[in-house]
Amino acid sequence: MAQLSELSLGELHRKILACTDCALHRGRTKAVPGDGPENAAIMFIGEAPGWHEDQQGQPFVGPAGQYLDQLLGSIRLKREGVFITNVVKCRPPSNREPLPGEIISCRKYLDRQIGLIRPKLIVTLGRHSMARYFPNENISKIHGKARKTDGIVYFAMYHPAAALHQGSLRKIIEADMFRIPQALAEAGRMVEKGQEPQQLNLL
Ligand code: URA
Repeated sequence: MAQLSELSLGELHRKILACTDCALHRGRTKAVPGDGPENAAIMFIGEAPGWHEDQQGQPFVGPAGQYLDQLLGSIRLKREGVFITNVVKCRPPSNREPLPGEIISCRKYLDRQIGLIRPKLIVTLGRHSMARYFPNENISKIHGKARKTDGIVYFAMYHPAAALHQGSLRKIIEADMFRIPQALAEAGRMVEKGQEPQQLNLL
């Protein structure tokens, strides 16, 4: 059987659709591998599919997705121009948070997606995807900041669903979105993590 590292993006996504590696597959309607061009410069990583995503097999197509579309539009990006995926590819029951074992089980798929797409900028949406790339950090401290590691710039944002439910986060998430074009433009010039400065607070 082919290793994940040998699979094309299409093959990888077909494998995700048939995955039974954790218990989440039992409750899913459709797995949600992710969507967007293979040469996308920006990848958005959310938490896990919700009800709408599970029905349609597409990421961020419910209310949080509509808000994400608006946020993208505010910086003249279309969702077709970016790659959107999640830490976990199947919907957790009753939209509960993904369990550590589920995140670990799905990690290989996200790693291969990143390896194939090689985005310049990865935007983490919410705590679970932030925890992967900014371990031991707090979203309230690092949102809107960029950090470069292994040639990729990581940029943490609140989850759009959190901003929908908590009005006070709306201004913050909208302001952070406006920093993305500059983070992308600076991606080539930014200093790698481990050298100073470790983080650039852009704009
Ligand atoms: N929330 C997420 O984190 N991901 C989705 O795909 C939809 C809602």
